[in-house]
Amino acid sequence: MEKKDIFILAIESSCDETSMAIVKNGCDVIALSVFTQIDTHKLYGGVVPEIASRMHTEVITIVLDDVLKKANMKVEEVDAIAVTYAPGLIGSLMVGIECAKTLSLIYNKPLIKVNHIAGHIYANNLTNKIIFPTLALVVSGGHTDLVLMKNDYDFEVLGTTLDDAIGEAYDKVARVLGEKYPGGPNVEKLALKGKDTYNLPIPLQDDSYNFSFSGLKSSVINEVNKCKMKKEEINKENLACSFQTSAIASIVNKCEKAIINLKTKNFIIAGGVSANKYLRNQLINLCDKYNVNLSLPDFVYCTDNAAMIGAAAYPLFLKSDFSSFDDVNPESRLPLF
Ligand code: KG4
Ligand code: ZN
Repeated sequence: MEKKDIFILAIESSCDETSMAIVKNGCDVIALSVFTQIDTHKLYGGVVPEIASRMHTEVITIVLDDVLKKANMKVEEVDAIAVTYAPGLIGSLMVGIECAKTLSLIYNKPLIKVNHIAGHIYANNLTNKIIFPTLALVVSGGHTDLVLMKNDYDFEVLGTTLDDAIGEAYDKVARVLGEKYPGGPNVEKLALKGKDTYNLPIPLQDDSYNFSFSGLKSSVINEVNKCKMKKEEINKENLACSFQTSAIASIVNKCEKAIINLKTKNFIIAGGVSANKYLRNQLINLCDKYNVNLSLPDFVYCTDNAAMIGAAAYPLFLKSDFSSFDDVNPESRLPLF
């Protein structure tokens, strides 16, 4: 018997993007709508939670109309509603969750709750197909984790950051260098024009799979302060390049150690910082060296979007892992397992 196609309407509102998608069989994006609030939060140098939740409320029905129009579908035609419930900003998550519960109730569709980080990981299925067992490097604004996945939803966290996440470090360095929020892409642009002249230390060169970026961030701040005291002009391009070189070297070193020790055959990356071309190129070289199959998600699926939530909801749908309304509540911090 031919397998029936499964359509999931997915909702993501954990931070400053209101997004909905319709995803077929966990891998085909039928339609994606993303409304970003970046231009508003830019004015404040970072995401203002109260403004974020208010803006989600204002646009969520517009985003719903938009995605249905793009897909040329009705809510009646989807098989389930999926929504991000954690981790993220409580007020922001709440808007997506209430919308998902409302749609589930009105249209009598099962509700699937999805962990945002699982979403970033499953974004890989929208571009390639995750092959298990695989190592997963999660690099986002809130996370820096090296995860071993032997199967769907089997997350063994090998290492994590002891302080700042890598995206957070990029954002803070951007601020010190006078660049706008979100800093990551701006620091990457600066770095491209610079040279690694500052030779900043590579953080946490130990035997663990953990990461640390706050010391490196302090080194950048020290360099800026030294220049200010000497009334010298800071070379932003070179400092950005030096920061990026050390930060990414520490990540790539830990990935190399894991590839060797675990005899890894497959490697996937996830999260906003996976859009960074320097990191992508370093990982391409690393995986070439050890003959490891590398999956890089398309750029649109690296940063927050609902298509990744639809992809992550699919294995849960197949297991009929549905949730009652009482069971779907926002949580600000939540580990993967
Ligand atoms: O995954 P994401 O969209 O949101 C979270 O779940 O945290 O990641 C956002 C983070 C921000 O810190 C942003 O500065 C960083 O990803 N980012 C980048 C790049 N694009 C986004 N960092 C470095 N290089 C980039 N090209
Ligand atoms: Zn994210």
